[in-house]
Amino acid sequence: MDRICIRGGRRLQGEIRIGGAKNAALPLMAASLLTEGTLRLSNLPHLADITTLVRLLTTLGVAIEMNGQDGNGGHAGRTLDLCAAEIAQTEAPYDLVRKMRASVLVLGPLLARCGRARVSLPGGCAIGTRPIDMHIRALQQMGAEIELEGGYVEARAPKGLKGAHIVFNMPSVGATENVLMAASLARGETVIENAAREPEVGDLARCLRAMGAHIDGIGTDRLQIEGVDALGGAEHAVIADRIEAGTYAIAAAITDGDLELVGARLDELGAVGEALAGAGLTLEETPRGLRARRTNGSLAGVDVMTEPFPGFPTDLQAQTMALMATAEGASMITETIFENRFMHVPELMRMGANINLHGGSAMVRGVPRLTGAPVMATDLRASVSLVLAGLAAEGETVIGRVYHLDRGYERVEEKLALCGAEIERLGEE
Ligand code: UD1
Repeated sequence: MDRICIRGGRRLQGEIRIGGAKNAALPLMAASLLTEGTLRLSNLPHLADITTLVRLLTTLGVAIEMNGQDGNGGHAGRTLDLCAAEIAQTEAPYDLVRKMRASVLVLGPLLARCGRARVSLPGGCAIGTRPIDMHIRALQQMGAEIELEGGYVEARAPKGLKGAHIVFNMPSVGATENVLMAASLARGETVIENAAREPEVGDLARCLRAMGAHIDGIGTDRLQIEGVDALGGAEHAVIADRIEAGTYAIAAAITDGDLELVGARLDELGAVGEALAGAGLTLEETPRGLRARRTNGSLAGVDVMTEPFPGFPTDLQAQTMALMATAEGASMITETIFENRFMHVPELMRMGANINLHGGSAMVRGVPRLTGAPVMATDLRASVSLVLAGLAAEGETVIGRVYHLDRGYERVEEKLALCGAEIERLGEE
């Protein structure tokens, strides 16, 4: 398994192109199941999760062709043409779903288009139980008959899906996306109350609109969808990855660097801008994106609580903890979205961080210097927090199990090295 080796202490300077958002790309690709037409998606990132979904969609009968790259150089977004002229099978098997929970996003589209779907339950994952009960209940309200059998969700809607009034007890990104796709082809009107407002949900809604769906309330917590008989092909460019942008903004902060994040947008960062400003990082809009740098010298501890968008994203919690580990003063970091999303804590402590866990909160007391150590990546965001800590640490950090990193960060070592980091990928141990 590959490892990443970092010698810390370099200030990062230069520009980083932010890729297309993984979490927008996955539901957009699943939306190709809703039409016989061709969906052309550009600015797709080159990531392991995208490859996993390509494999799953191909199994279901979607013809997928690479249609070039946009942008320049090696970090260009890719364009894929996805065409589900005919659906060959309606089963999403365990060996693909278990690799990536987002595979469950094929449930709504398959059910809406074919009247049936058999999708493996994703099961537990490293960051908690992550059930899909909200997806299932909402589809049942839309007329689906659903049974759980042998680890699979067996869903049937012999008479098609019908519109429904759905009230989520909390905003779920995936459940909102599944219902949005299913409702686009259902009979009559669907209203989703307490819908997730993440920019990736908005990106999916805009693409569905381009395919002919009738959707109102985009960007709000109340989405209204009037079903249509059929959707057509469309062209859509995936939005920039706000989590990648936030991660590199933190890289600028933790190395006292100066980075231009090309393609990043402040409005899509929600509460992140304010939290990082409190810690001493300035995010300034430029014609091409955002410039991230420290303006007042040292970093200060700030309290952060993860919340649904526009609150502080759980997907930046681990990275922020690495930053706070090197700040002056204390910081309380509270995780409210996923239980068990603190696996980076013991690894950061091996690098000298001072962190105490109390249930869903971590008290981080900044230390003057982290020290390099061999550490282990445990999930996607935890692993990049170790990269950030390694950039700031004295000496050498070697991160094992970087396949987690490759699921969500494109060429992380190349992007950082171009800005002056001493970082390299090592082959098999
Ligand atoms: C998406 C993102 C993930 C991010 C998360 C929260 C993708 C591919 N992944 O995941 O990176 O960390 O949003 O911003 O977009 N829940 C239930 N029942 C359900 C569904 C969710 O209880 O049926 C709970 C979850 O356990 C969690 C909360 O709702 O506590 C939010 O989860 P959700 O927004 O659904 O996350 P995902 O869509 O899986």
